[in-house]
Amino acid sequence: MFEQAITATKIIKVDKLSPQDMDRLIFYAGGEQAFPCVIADPRPLPSRDAMLEGLRKLRPVEIQNNVFPDPKTGDVMSMVQAIKDKPVNIIIGIGGGSSLDSAKGAAVVLSNGGDLNDYLGPAPARRIEKRDIKLILIPTTAGTGSEVTKVGVYTSHSGRKYTLGHPLMQADMAVLVTEYAETLPPSLTASTAFDALSHALETIWNKNAHPLTDRVAVESAVHILKWMERAYDSAVAGTKEGRAEMLEGACMAGTAFNMTGTAAVHALSFILSEKWHVPHGVACAFALEDVFRLNLADTETRQRLVQIARPLFGNDRDDALIAALFNKIITLKKKFGLPFTFGDLHINLSAGRIGALFYKSLDDPKMKNNIIPVNRKTIVEWIKNKL
Ligand SMILES: NC(=O)c1ccc[n+]([C@@H]2O[C@H](COP(=O)([O-])OP(=O)(O)OC[C@H]3O[C@@H](n4cnc5c(N)ncnc54)[C@H](O)[C@@H]3O)[C@@H](O)[C@H]2O)c1
Ligand SMILES: [Fe+2]
Repeated sequence: MFEQAITATKIIKVDKLSPQDMDRLIFYAGGEQAFPCVIADPRPLPSRDAMLEGLRKLRPVEIQNNVFPDPKTGDVMSMVQAIKDKPVNIIIGIGGGSSLDSAKGAAVVLSNGGDLNDYLGPAPARRIEKRDIKLILIPTTAGTGSEVTKVGVYTSHSGRKYTLGHPLMQADMAVLVTEYAETLPPSLTASTAFDALSHALETIWNKNAHPLTDRVAVESAVHILKWMERAYDSAVAGTKEGRAEMLEGACMAGTAFNMTGTAAVHALSFILSEKWHVPHGVACAFALEDVFRLNLADTETRQRLVQIARPLFGNDRDDALIAALFNKIITLKKKFGLPFTFGDLHINLSAGRIGALFYKSLDDPKMKNNIIPVNRKTIVEWIKNKL
């Protein structure tokens, strides 16, 4: 992966991770004094659990598992309380984005003090100034790219979902273990693939885009679109094809959006997740086609979408290639059972509540990254069409 050249995180890719391998990585990160704390969610994952059991026979390891989808600051803080008086100097996050972000949040608070809530929002009471704890992140979903990004996403005391970003939140090592992603069930394979695809596309239709970010984003979008259907089919069939490739594609898309931030799809997805607990990748898929259509008004974006479509669909007119790409996304959403309407999400929403629920997304910095400005009228049109 040449993208290693543009991320501060060392990326290691292996088929399996033995307890001895993990022990060695801990030593490389922390030397003789290394005392790791693993942060993972409580759902059993046999390959990870066997590795951790073996690791505990090799060295003392603290394990914390107060992790749930869309991590709450209170849950991260309870893990911080449990380890703050122990000589932990390495945090290892293993799991989906929720585990990796919890690991980042714990490392930041242990190093800088206070409560994770203090760091969130437009006018935070505290700022990240240092990190004394090494971070090793090991994704088990192929979606968020959090293992290579400088952001974490947390639901605050107020119930709002915030992105916290700082270069010190970026991991020292990201370890991509194919075996962990091989057990992802079809629904998670589908939703996390749409998260990864959204990261690649949101890097392109972004005010912060530049030639380097475009290049990584186009390459990752092509890779993800080549493999996501095969990964889904193999999840349905119980086979392994496409899992290693999706892990790599999600990591590559993470490298891309780490340089630009995300845009309107993510800004809208946060409302769906904080209000109705729609899983992150599902929420991204929900908003994707509307934002795609809007951003076609930008010439540069159209050129990049053509670059994505050409290796997938062959030579054709630009308009035809963009249409083929759009249709592919719609076809995959249908095949994967992802939602198009609020009815599909089993949410009963009346037109009168759109403003109260969705206008706040306009203040989200992610929304402001979107290359074509989004306003109240756009939001009402999008949401009304989905009622
Ligand atoms: N920091 C970032 O750069 C970034 C980027 C995008 C999204 N996010 C955040 O990440 C979170 C979403 O993460 P996610 O989509 O990876 O899911 P997740 O971490 O919330 O996990 C969802 C479910 O998948 C299960 N799971 C994870 N790996 C599995 C495996 N290999 N086999 C079977 N089950 C498995 C978990 O146990 C959990 O029940 C959201 O909070 C989102 O906002 C962060
Ligand atoms: Fe995302």
